[in-house]
Amino acid sequence: MTGTVSLPGAIHRVGIVGSGTMGAGLAEICGRAGLDVVVVASGPASVPAGLGRLVSSLDRAVTRGKLSEDDRDATLARVAFTTELDDLADRDLVMEAIRENEDQKSELFVALDKVVESPQAILASNTSSIPIMRLARVTSRPEQVVGLHFFNPVPVMPLVELIGSLLTGEHTLQRMTEFVGGSLGKTPIRSPDRAGFVVNSLLIPYLLSAIRMVESGFATAEVVDQGMTLGCSHPLGPLRLTDMIGLDVVAAIAESLQAEFREPQFTPPALLLRMVEGGLLGKKSGRGFYPYS
Ligand SMILES: NC(=O)c1ccc[n+]([C@@H]2O[C@H](COP(=O)([O-])OP(=O)(O)OC[C@H]3O[C@@H](n4cnc5c(N)ncnc54)[C@H](O)[C@@H]3O)[C@@H](O)[C@H]2O)c1
Repeated sequence: MTGTVSLPGAIHRVGIVGSGTMGAGLAEICGRAGLDVVVVASGPASVPAGLGRLVSSLDRAVTRGKLSEDDRDATLARVAFTTELDDLADRDLVMEAIRENEDQKSELFVALDKVVESPQAILASNTSSIPIMRLARVTSRPEQVVGLHFFNPVPVMPLVELIGSLLTGEHTLQRMTEFVGGSLGKTPIRSPDRAGFVVNSLLIPYLLSAIRMVESGFATAEVVDQGMTLGCSHPLGPLRLTDMIGLDVVAAIAESLQAEFREPQFTPPALLLRMVEGGLLGKKSGRGFYPYS
């Protein structure tokens, strides 16, 4: 006899809030994993933009021979886009990937707590740096609030940081370990609930140091990046990586780290702040430390 055995606590219906770089990537991996996915975009104009990101990424996977055309179509059929948060009522898990702003994320968690009906449902944040406790405490279910920190590009990067606050239940962490490692086939590592978690606490001071080198005229972006790719075997140099992450995201993470630890290594350089103010956000805006067509 064949058939799917549903384990208690298994995740089938996933909600994603935000359809930008990370939200579209999350929709792709969940759809490819055979899950039922609902993506909430910020407004009507964001729906075609988010769908466009998903379709382009799936098409790239088909072109590279990583996905069949039938699987691409089946994935698209599993992902629905909406602008209504209420459409997340029946979800087992909701992952938010809206901008890295604590007030906006807290407001969203208050709303999600009211909308998502199942008492067992888990609310997760893809925040890069905001302590999970700040989001858990605004809900009535802090034991079911976690951080699931995926990396960019989501379909490619194998790591997920799993962050529980002091109030997160062990059962929730186990369900998320199974979801990430089993359903999604990624590698979870547990991180303590400190701003920046494990990876960004190490990565951000390095990226900020590289920006300071450019800012002070010590070296150009090209020279710094060549130094790290050719001299240290990094796949991307720090300025190219900053462009890929998004300069606004890097600045927001630096500010969270600075607020938590108050160490000079986390202070965002003025050059980074000016570039963000000028809309030079990196690859997603067409210009950062490098131009993009
Ligand atoms: N970019 C990265 O490399 C990276 C990596 C890991 C984690 N993250 C985290 O993921 C989150 C999203 O980052 P991103 O790079 O995808 O940003 P992004 O700017 O590409 O996308 C954010 C999206 O959220 C939408 N949005 C804002 N408020 C919303 C709301 N209330 N409801 C629905 N949609 C809303 C915006 O319209 C935008 O499309 C941030 O918390 C970021 O720190 C980013």
